Amino acid sequence: MDLIKGYGVTQKIEQVCFDNSIQPLDPSTVHQVPLATGRMMPVAAFGTFHSDWAQNYMEEATAEAIRLGWRHIDTARAYENEEVVGEAIRRAIREGYIASADELFITGKLWNGHMAPKDVAPAMDTTLQALGVDQIDMYLNHWPWPNVHTPGCATDHRNPGAVPYIHEAFLETWAEICKLKQAGKVVDIGTSNHTQATMKLLLRDVAQDERPVYNQMEMHPLLQQTELRRYFESEGIVCGGYMALGSPNRPGRDTFKEHRADMMDPTIQAIAAELGESLAKVALAWAAQRENKSGGYVAMATRSDWIAENLRVATDDLLSAEQLLRICGDDTPQNPGIDANNRLIWGQVFLWPEADGDWRILWDDSQVLETRAGYQTFKASWEAHHKVQLETTFQG
Ligand SMILES: NC(=O)c1ccc[n+]([C@@H]2O[C@H](COP(=O)([O-])OP(=O)(O)OC[C@H]3O[C@@H](n4cnc5c(N)ncnc54)[C@H](OP(=O)(O)O)[C@@H]3O)[C@@H](O)[C@H]2O)c1
Repeated sequence: MDLIKGYGVTQKIEQVCFDNSIQPLDPSTVHQVPLATGRMMPVAAFGTFHSDWAQNYMEEATAEAIRLGWRHIDTARAYENEEVVGEAIRRAIREGYIASADELFITGKLWNGHMAPKDVAPAMDTTLQALGVDQIDMYLNHWPWPNVHTPGCATDHRNPGAVPYIHEAFLETWAEICKLKQAGKVVDIGTSNHTQATMKLLLRDVAQDERPVYNQMEMHPLLQQTELRRYFESEGIVCGGYMALGSPNRPGRDTFKEHRADMMDPTIQAIAAELGESLAKVALAWAAQRENKSGGYVAMATRSDWIAENLRVATDDLLSAEQLLRICGDDTPQNPGIDANNRLIWGQVFLWPEADGDWRILWDDSQVLETRAGYQTFKASWEAHHKVQLETTFQG
């Protein structure tokens, strides 16, 4: 069905395979992590982003995930399929996989285009209506800035109105998210794609009951983000890793020749061979077991066997301590680990003019602004600098 090819693991052939002879797992055997608010969150979240191709299959895939025992469903307005996920939930109830949506832990995300304070509550209402529920378990701010791209856009797409992180503006959005919690529309709140600087600012300025308890971020064996994760955890924020399998069928806009494929890594392959288990299970077991099993992973699949095996990983400890160490490393020459800072989402489609086209600026905290006035000063200075540069340097 799938071919090993090029930079990635698979070349997508649009064929899905649902097989109801595969037996479900008992959801109570899936490991859960405590959130700072005291609630428990299943570590394995079923992803519903369709990588721009699988939209037609997400209802069936999500219903199949629920049948097979997944209870944490990761959704977002940006995936343009909340209605589809809602239909999958209703189908799962009709088919008797769950008695009600209350059995699920549903995560939703506020899209960048709805971060203006007046848009936050309506966005949440639209999400709840589409999902067919009165409340969700976790609501995240999808990205720290309000920059949007068009669905299915190309790699070189740029939004001329894009801006860097401006803390003053983010706090206004966050205040609205906190109101959703007070109103009972969401139980817990969190962030997504926050960096250390943006989180430090947020934690500096919010009350105890307004603190995020979860941050979703890209994490897979070749992009471990251990330091950032440890910082979040030191603040009581649980981390969930998206693209946990290295997202082999991700959209073209997030695909670059520099990328490496997690499941093609020799250490992952060697451990899979030692265990007689799949490459995917090794990658996900690393996500589930690392850092004392303190975090979670988000993974998507459109085949029953993969959906089942991706969940099974969260029910037992597949990797020995020695195998875990070979993947994680411990900062010694003997144990380098395999982290390669292999970031798949560069985020270049969100870049603002002053980033000068360098996607690393999205992640390295070098352009984090406190106030709108500060940004105007920074922007004016940048424009003046560029004017002088254009006037004085050779443009051959
Ligand atoms: N917060 C954010 O900004 C953010 C960003 C990106 C993603 N996410 C979330 O994270 C989820 C996961 O990311 P993702 O879907 O891009 O990447 P992923 O879960 O790493 O990879 C999914 C792909 O891996 C293949 N796959 C799944 N299970 C497999 C297995 N057992 N063996 C071999 N291949 C397998 C699937 O192929 P098939 O398609 O053929 O089944 C699917 O296309 C998303 O769905 C979304 O919910 C969040």
